[in-house]
Amino acid sequence: MRNEEGVCLVTGGAGARIGHGVSTMVAARGLHVVIGDTDGGATQQLATRLRASGHRADAVDLDVCDPDSIERALSEIRGRIGTVRSLVNSAGTGLELPAADVSTPQFDRIMAVNVRGSWLCARAVLPGMIDAGGGSIVNIGSVHKAGASQGYSAYAASKAALVGLTRGIACDYGRQFVRCNIVHPGAVVSPEQLAEDYRTGATPSHRRFLAERQMMPRPVTPADIGKVVGFLLSDDALSMTGSEVWADAGTSAMLFDHRSPEWSMEAGAAAT
Ligand SMILES: NC(=O)c1ccc[n+]([C@@H]2O[C@H](COP(=O)([O-])OP(=O)(O)OC[C@H]3O[C@@H](n4cnc5c(N)ncnc54)[C@H](O)[C@@H]3O)[C@@H](O)[C@H]2O)c1
Repeated sequence: MRNEEGVCLVTGGAGARIGHGVSTMVAARGLHVVIGDTDGGATQQLATRLRASGHRADAVDLDVCDPDSIERALSEIRGRIGTVRSLVNSAGTGLELPAADVSTPQFDRIMAVNVRGSWLCARAVLPGMIDAGGGSIVNIGSVHKAGASQGYSAYAASKAALVGLTRGIACDYGRQFVRCNIVHPGAVVSPEQLAEDYRTGATPSHRRFLAERQMMPRPVTPADIGKVVGFLLSDDALSMTGSEVWADAGTSAMLFDHRSPEWSMEAGAAAT
């Protein structure tokens, strides 16, 4: 499939961080991007902005938890725009609570959006991709799949499950030339957040903490993630399927940073 062929559906595409980055970069690569999100206002706004920049972009109402909503969105896309040949499952939700404090509805919600929603959307677009001779799906995972972090058990479980889904789809449909890969972003900082840091001259401590866990002292931006996703969707990545791609400035590959000022053998010994 050539880059400019077909339609690319980006779920959660109105999201201020990764959704924006992916929708913008995919449109810039020449695909017709359809932004699907529960946030109708933001979805329309982004599509209008992309069209004003000369890109092909549309918006649809989409709730990835609801099979009827997905079917409605897809029949609108098929009727008005064309066959979905690329899908980016970016709709996601998070939660920061110790495992024993997570309620059953909270756990179910994370799984419903992050895992079931990605599966439902893939299931809905796969027949069209197969009929058209192939396609590409990119799921958005997380660096939380690489290692544990306090309060993220439910979120990490959902992203680990998404890796299984990614490999399963890649395996089931490789013979029909449908590729499926997963990108694990690190801590993504939006241009607005960066501008605020510059304006106030202070980086919030949680962001400084995250940055210190990167090999490279550079924020991972929504555009960075969009470029990696755009590459995976394109023919430049024809040999890639079932792959996990880390877009995290090295966080997942780093065990320790011995230069960290917080690291102190004396403090550790004193605590025992
Ligand atoms: N921001 C980060 O640092 C980061 C890091 C790693 C992974 N991720 C993952 O990237 C993806 C996007 O995250 P983000 O931080 O940019 O989030 P965001 O909150 O900016 O955007 C998420 C979007 O998903 C939409 N959404 C939520 N539930 C939906 C549903 N049921 N149906 C359709 N749309 C729905 C929201 O309306 C929102 O626009 C998520 O899967 C998240 O887990 C984010």
